[in-house]
Amino acid sequence: MDLLISDVTKQRLGQAKRVVVLTGAGISAASGIPTFRGENGLWTKLAPQELASFEGFYRNTAVVSEWYKHRRDIIEVCQPNAAHTTLVELEKLVAEFTLITQNIDGLHQRAGSQDVIELHGTIMQNYCTRCNRQYSVAEFAQIYNRSSNHVPRCFCGGIVRPNVVWFGESLPVAAYERAYKASMQAEVFLAIGTSAQVRPAADLPMIAKEQGAYLIEINIVKTVLTPHADLFLEGAADKILPQFNREYQSLLANV
Ligand code: APR
Repeated sequence: MDLLISDVTKQRLGQAKRVVVLTGAGISAASGIPTFRGENGLWTKLAPQELASFEGFYRNTAVVSEWYKHRRDIIEVCQPNAAHTTLVELEKLVAEFTLITQNIDGLHQRAGSQDVIELHGTIMQNYCTRCNRQYSVAEFAQIYNRSSNHVPRCFCGGIVRPNVVWFGESLPVAAYERAYKASMQAEVFLAIGTSAQVRPAADLPMIAKEQGAYLIEINIVKTVLTPHADLFLEGAADKILPQFNREYQSLLANV
């Protein structure tokens, strides 16, 4: 594979103390988890408003609960891929590294990333819409399997939902504030495997860019972000990132 990073990139990366990474569904594609848009994306076959909104959940609790349980069952047998594990290595090379994800699959944590800002929540947690009692995957499975019509109910009688951000819902304030602040101070910003279409997460790369960050995009196709990227690395994240990391390591070794 040819060298990925140019002399300009080397200069910017070599000097960077604050690196921010934003990941989307594309980083988990190699692990076997479907993306949402693009070829074979979930939203090309299913209606997001029906399955990923509170209205859809309220209208059809059993269907939405089953869908999230199905996705959780898939995720639980998937493994982090080389892109996830490379970000754990990349973090060791950087003075201030911030990992922001739109993904709810928990693969960054399972790969070893210690501090992941989950802008859209996590499918691994559920909570009661009435008393806010938290349910782990195992605890949720108990009440789900006990429910007569696949409507998971809390011990208080309230309905239990996944701890994910649905369309029309606000992002967790503390998570977004951390992500926004890191993006404002980023010297290098990597956008990896995201179509950059869902705000406010999609705004973060441009917020960083407008503050002077060097913007690198890794994707298998061009996106709305590509024209603004200082470096567009076209390819699968689990192939590009290990090579990128090797070049970054040798760059730092020669600085
Ligand atoms: N390597 C890199 N990029 C990839 C790969 C891969 N192996 N496979 C797919 N991609 C790219 C696609 O080209 C696409 O641009 O990943 C991107 C995935 O885009 P989306 O499916 O739109 O996912 P994402 O950007 O994370 O969506 C944001 O939308 O539905 C909501 O809450 C959901 O968090 C999600 C948000």
